Amino acid sequence: MKCVDDFRLQLGKSELVPIMIGGMGVDISTADLALEAARLGGIGHISDAMIKTVADRRYNTKFVKEKLALYKYNVLNADKSSVKFDLGRLEEATRLHVEATMGRKRGSGLVFINCMEKLTMNAPKETLRVRMRAAMDAGIEGITLAAGLHLGSFGLIEDHPRFRDVKLGIIVSSVRALQLFLKKSARTQRLPDYIVVEGPLAGGHLGFGMDWAKYDLATIVAEVLQYLRDEHLDIPVIPAGGIFTGSDATAFLEQGAAAVQVATRFTVTSECGLPDDVKQEYFKATEDEIIVNEISPTGYPMRMINRSPAIGDGIRPNCEAYGYLLDASGKCAYITAYNREVAAHPEARKVKVWDKTCLCTHMRNFEVWTCGQLTYRLKDTTNRLSDGSYQVLSAEHVFQDYQFSKDQKLSLPEAPAA
Ligand SMILES: Cc1cc2nc3c(=O)[nH]c(=O)nc-3n(C[C@H](O)[C@H](O)[C@H](O)COP(=O)(O)O)c2cc1C
Repeated sequence: MKCVDDFRLQLGKSELVPIMIGGMGVDISTADLALEAARLGGIGHISDAMIKTVADRRYNTKFVKEKLALYKYNVLNADKSSVKFDLGRLEEATRLHVEATMGRKRGSGLVFINCMEKLTMNAPKETLRVRMRAAMDAGIEGITLAAGLHLGSFGLIEDHPRFRDVKLGIIVSSVRALQLFLKKSARTQRLPDYIVVEGPLAGGHLGFGMDWAKYDLATIVAEVLQYLRDEHLDIPVIPAGGIFTGSDATAFLEQGAAAVQVATRFTVTSECGLPDDVKQEYFKATEDEIIVNEISPTGYPMRMINRSPAIGDGIRPNCEAYGYLLDASGKCAYITAYNREVAAHPEARKVKVWDKTCLCTHMRNFEVWTCGQLTYRLKDTTNRLSDGSYQVLSAEHVFQDYQFSKDQKLSLPEAPAA
């Protein structure tokens, strides 16, 4: 019987353990987590979601305060179209995070960055261009294009000196999305170096509608592999979403996948950016508490624990400080929902908003407990401690459990001395 370690992912000159830890936005997949994956010979991701906030938290910068000071006059204004990102500062923050991360890298694995197109930042093209280029300047080894079709993203960096050397991947949830991406990127004479096929059980935003349950990862992966064979394209395919054990991963590798992308099992590791009390919420979650809803203003369904503090919260939009989801005309679906509630309840000191959430503020504060569908199984991966809490794992333990386990086994960590 085979295990993940019997396979290797060849990416350019690198021969890697075929385990990639997926990007988890707003510093849930921290530099520490990504660096552990690289040290162990796999691939880790940092994320550039809300990069200025992450920089302030990690490197003592004052990017958010500075932006808020500039736009404070607009806080009570429903029209946020004047709230723009300073591209120079955005570049600075990205460089800072990527350089600090790459400077600490050890081992034969790689560190990539997750770039979500849906972070439209009131100037979608301009900001995405700066984000990707700054990451490349700062030495990132790969960019995973996420949360969007990215039909023009290669074009934004094709004149960068590292365009042909940095690894570039795309996340898709259907053959159709892949076809569109390849068609629109063909002009740049460059294929993606890997394709992440994300199925309906993943965490974060989903590339499906609310009918996600009708779809199945193995089927989509088989379709993508067949399409690539038909087109004589040799691009590594990396399934993601609900791959919970080493045996789940091995089954995909035997089916022809080049590696797997996993995330949920790493949310309860000490290297993960979630606060300790939130990690315990992930451990405690039961199957019926894991829901997919439409409260993300991005328009994509999102999976989360139904006890997430963000659900129903009606805080005032905080775009002057953040504003990562403002579209090209300065609009965000949360602002519309919030203003509707304020107009309907003029006397209320605080309104409730159920249909949308202020994703920036709540992701920043770890109040959207987004997670994969199999989060309810996390409790089976560790020990229950004498105080009733669950033992937090190390990323190394989880990584190696994926790498070596067989027969659907989950290896428990060594229990701490009593
Ligand atoms: C807490 C959490 C946050 C996530 N955030 C992002 C994100 O910011 N961008 C993205 O492309 N995918 C995101 N994902 C999806 C993962 O990168 C990954 O593809 C998927 O969750 C893998 O499935 P699994 O969690 O069942 O292992 C997130 C997943 C989780 C669990």
